[in-house]
Amino acid sequence: MKDAVPQTIRLSDYTPPAYLVDEVHLTFRLNPSATRVTSRIAFRPNPEARERRFKLDGEGLKLIRAMIDGEPVTPALSDAGLTCDAPDAPFTWEAEVEIDPEGNTALEGLYMSNGMYCTQCEAEGFRKITYYPDRPDVMAVFTVRIESDLPVLLSNGNPVERGEGFAEWHDPWPKPAYLFALVAGDLVNHPGRFTTKSGREVDLNIWVRPGDEGKCAFGMEALRASMRWDEEKYGREYDLDLFNIVAVDDFNMGAMENKGLNVFNSSCVLASPETSTDANFERIEAIIAHEYFHNWTGNRITCRDWFQLCLKEGLTVFRDSQFTADMRSAPVKRIGDVITLRARQFREDNGPLAHPVRPESFVEINNFYTATVYEKGAELIGMLKTLVGDDAYYRALDLYFERHDGQACTIEDWLAVFEDVTGRDLAQFKRWYEEAGTPRIDVEESWTPGAPGAQGGGTYTLTLRQHTPPTPGQEVKNPRVIPVKVGLIGPNGDEVAETRVLELTEAEQSFAFEGLTAKPVPSILREFSAPVILNRDSDAAERAFLLAHDTDPFNRWEAGRALAREGLMAMIVEGAAPDRHYLDAIERVARDETLDPAFRALALGLPSEEDMAQALFDAGHTPDPQAIWEALDALKSARAHAMQDIAATLYDAHQVRAPYRPDAEQSGARSLANAALAMLGRLDGGARAQAQYDAADNMTQQLAALTCLVRANAGDAAVQAFYDQWRHDRLVIDKWFGLQILNAEPARAVEVTRRLTQHPDFTLKNPNRFRAVLGALTAFPAGFHDPSGAGYALLTDWLLKLDPLNPQTTARMCSAFETWRRYDADRQTLIKAQLDRLLAQPGLSRDTAEMVGRIRG
Ligand code: PHE
Ligand code: ZN
Repeated sequence: MKDAVPQTIRLSDYTPPAYLVDEVHLTFRLNPSATRVTSRIAFRPNPEARERRFKLDGEGLKLIRAMIDGEPVTPALSDAGLTCDAPDAPFTWEAEVEIDPEGNTALEGLYMSNGMYCTQCEAEGFRKITYYPDRPDVMAVFTVRIESDLPVLLSNGNPVERGEGFAEWHDPWPKPAYLFALVAGDLVNHPGRFTTKSGREVDLNIWVRPGDEGKCAFGMEALRASMRWDEEKYGREYDLDLFNIVAVDDFNMGAMENKGLNVFNSSCVLASPETSTDANFERIEAIIAHEYFHNWTGNRITCRDWFQLCLKEGLTVFRDSQFTADMRSAPVKRIGDVITLRARQFREDNGPLAHPVRPESFVEINNFYTATVYEKGAELIGMLKTLVGDDAYYRALDLYFERHDGQACTIEDWLAVFEDVTGRDLAQFKRWYEEAGTPRIDVEESWTPGAPGAQGGGTYTLTLRQHTPPTPGQEVKNPRVIPVKVGLIGPNGDEVAETRVLELTEAEQSFAFEGLTAKPVPSILREFSAPVILNRDSDAAERAFLLAHDTDPFNRWEAGRALAREGLMAMIVEGAAPDRHYLDAIERVARDETLDPAFRALALGLPSEEDMAQALFDAGHTPDPQAIWEALDALKSARAHAMQDIAATLYDAHQVRAPYRPDAEQSGARSLANAALAMLGRLDGGARAQAQYDAADNMTQQLAALTCLVRANAGDAAVQAFYDQWRHDRLVIDKWFGLQILNAEPARAVEVTRRLTQHPDFTLKNPNRFRAVLGALTAFPAGFHDPSGAGYALLTDWLLKLDPLNPQTTARMCSAFETWRRYDADRQTLIKAQLDRLLAQPGLSRDTAEMVGRIRG
């Protein structure tokens, strides 16, 4: 059990560390249940410190001995660390501790995964390895000795010496402890090489378990492409002679940017056409890039404290989005990012877990690796770039790297480089970092025709009003600076005003467009230039017009999405029939051979159940998850019937005959063909899907077909065949688990989930597997929100089992309940009972207690 009274940590309480560290020497004598870690640390008083107290963080450590300058000392120990009398001058601390990697199921600190040792130290895991000032503003040079008979022994930096039963590593770059890593095991490597622009030869390796060698080639190419891209786009070169990536099966998150030794959840690096979908390939490419880009934005320049997490994460997500946009299709990437932003971040920002991009307080920092910090954090960078312009953006970044290299920084430091480069005052922009909540922008428009006979004398005026609803702990919101990209389309479909950036800084502001011949149709918030909710009265005809004519691909897609959403709302609220405008307009898009197939596939996507629940709630209705699912189902069927012919044509025309490549072109064709397959599956009972399943030679095709068969209730044989084929591949079996739940009849989803939790391959020890099963249920609102409450109870049963083993993953999954207040009284009562059940659990982790407490309110 952790501390009885959880402490709230506040940004305003920040104080500089009492001591700084110049050098750290660590020796690990690896043993599964009793690893010995000795540390020798050179401390010196920090001249900036306000008080001189020698305090080290430490959790779950067995202290064997401690010395200061060679003299044994007896520190005062607590649950959180130790304190000790120490000189007010430089000194050497030595300690030996014992830890139990095998017993470490939390997957934080040093733990074991399939017989291999690995570490995860961000945010505060290093304190589970040895006593240390475990805070990012203490940066030190690490030398590490690993003693073990295992064949592969890795740590950060460069290898110094390798001998019988040991290896020594030295990382010349000062780093905070959260970037420390150690890996030891029976691993094999997929090697590669990269020559940096100044001629440094870098050895690259992807280390995997024997048997996974065949799944590394794509990751290696993605790494090389990332290294090249960061040189070309940001002038950032790699700074060691070696770069290692390790794939680990048991991992709480996606991947980790440890200096020179990135550790990846195997699902985020291993890829092969037979086992990975196109979407997996794209995600792997992005995550490899993300972790690599952290070498500069995160490692060379790190965060002063964890409140500044968005300093590295927002920027690095922004950079990896730019990379994907450059490697693939920029509009397709943008649309995908907005879909997830709305699904995850808007949901968070409009519920009990809403927090600023730079939070002001936390209990458990692991609970703040959120969509708000990451994805909204990245949106903030994008807005800044829009506001200052591309040229100033890259000059500001150059200054950031030059001024802050080797430092632990704050958002103030970040904004200052932009202010210094542009001379612009960013005080108002800073509110984006400080105030939580999604701004709403209401639009009003007016049109004044020119004098009779005077061509082009008309003026079109847009009035924008912004307001942000209150969020927990923040009742009052101030107007922000919001860059709103706008273009105008004339009645004949031609663009009459090119995109310009309106800077909304007041609560209400008007913008005039002059010299127009006729009243235009506005295309507002092009490229989704700000993370806001735009409200504008429009009708189906106008949406269809924009879907046909907008020159901005994002807004074109957005028009289709709005049309679908409004049609679905009418079906749900008024019992209306599927909207003809939507069906006609979407068919025209699907037929339009001038449009990128990937874009057409996205346009054929429908708002998610979650989107609809939020939209209904915002419109003053109580969402009924089953009714939403039924409306979506009815719309899909109506569309399948309406588009029968074109669906068959699209399916045939977009079959890829060339050898499999996971690039934008082929994956776009496959996604359009598979969207067509889903329509056809509603008409032919799954006949075509079965044919595709039988012929599939890649996972994208196989999985799309299997999904279709399960939806058509014709999947039993294929589900069994799939399992028999892939039972030895964990990552594929994760897909197998999830798919059966996500495509079940809503009324059966809980039962299917329960049955799968009894499957011999289900385990609490592997976060990917846990998420594949319970995460699938929570990602399926119509199943999860079963009116009986069985979904809530089942999830809670398993969260209670997981919490003692892995608090971090448990706490993250509690967010399934974050939307509870939007549902009816019966569901609220049922959910509240489960939240109370969680809170009543003796010894509930600090992580989970904080999350449930905040959600319950
Ligand atoms: N810093 C990692 C990333 O964004 C995420 C992470 C956080 C991984 C905490 C593990 C633990 O790339
Ligand atoms: Zn990151």
